[in-house]
Amino acid sequence: MKDELEAFAKDALEQIQLASSAQSLEEARVHYLGRKGKITEILRGLSQVPEAERPAMGQAANQVKQSLSEAIDARKAELEAVSDANEGEPADFSLPSRRRSEGHIHVINQVTEEILSIFFELGFQTATGPDIETEYYNFESLNIPADHPARDSHDTFFVKPGVVLRTHTSPVQMRVMEKMQPPVAVVVPGRVYRVDNDASHSPMFYQIEGLLVDERVSFAELKGTLMLFVHRFFGKTAKIRFRPHFFPFTEPSAEMDVSCTVCQGKGCRVCKHSGWLEVLGCGMVHPNVFRHAGYDSEKYTGFAFGLGVDRIAMLRHAIPSITHLYENDLRFLEQF
Ligand code: DAH
Repeated sequence: MKDELEAFAKDALEQIQLASSAQSLEEARVHYLGRKGKITEILRGLSQVPEAERPAMGQAANQVKQSLSEAIDARKAELEAVSDANEGEPADFSLPSRRRSEGHIHVINQVTEEILSIFFELGFQTATGPDIETEYYNFESLNIPADHPARDSHDTFFVKPGVVLRTHTSPVQMRVMEKMQPPVAVVVPGRVYRVDNDASHSPMFYQIEGLLVDERVSFAELKGTLMLFVHRFFGKTAKIRFRPHFFPFTEPSAEMDVSCTVCQGKGCRVCKHSGWLEVLGCGMVHPNVFRHAGYDSEKYTGFAFGLGVDRIAMLRHAIPSITHLYENDLRFLEQF
């Protein structure tokens, strides 16, 4: 009878483990532990056992009964946990996994990369310079002496006397020319700083500077280069126009407008009904700038331009206020 009891216990425990639903577990319980179940039968059969062995057998049978009932409770808890997790549904292993949230490239950097890649195709290389700049590089070397009225248009953050947060990327022109001889063709992305803060001005914003110097570089090449850029970036139908302007470091100088990307030049709120949007300043490098760089201004000519990345990103995506770009509100940033 002892062997029979052991075999029974082993088989019953296995079946309990295999029960895959509350219902089959209940069936197993009735079968093994129920009033007409197997264990009851065994206990009843004890009367047949020789008296000397009876207490030990009885104890063993009760132990089996107890451990089966514990096994059933444990299995029941397991099945309930699984069914809670699935809310009664069987698991669907073909479902896609839960998406992890991922960062992505900021719209300003996206636009910067796109602009730079157009100039890379034309043979320009990148150059960079420091955000904290000397007054010499930021102003003097670019033909903006201390008493020059053009300094008024750059509301400058001073770090200490003679040192500023650069107000434009143009000082990198000088840093590049000091290091290399023509031909030079560089684009310079970077942050610039001005004491200014409203819907269209941020105290920190982004520019891309361009500089090309070689023998016999003409204004026609400047126009051709910028036209190609605009057609690539805004599309073949975009028109450009140049308006005469003044910058101390170029002569002649111009500002370039692009036909409004919102109304295609018909006139709307974004372009203030003019049909045109200003996107950059440009011109032929001033001989005084070459002199500071140690270039022979009789031998070399060059063009330069400086474009506002924020401005172009706002035009591309119809973003109404520059502050959106720097508030780090994910509801805004995730759109790009
Ligand atoms: N540095 C000028 C600014 O921030 C933009 C600019 C104008 C850059 C003409 C140039 C240029 O290189 O030739 O307003």
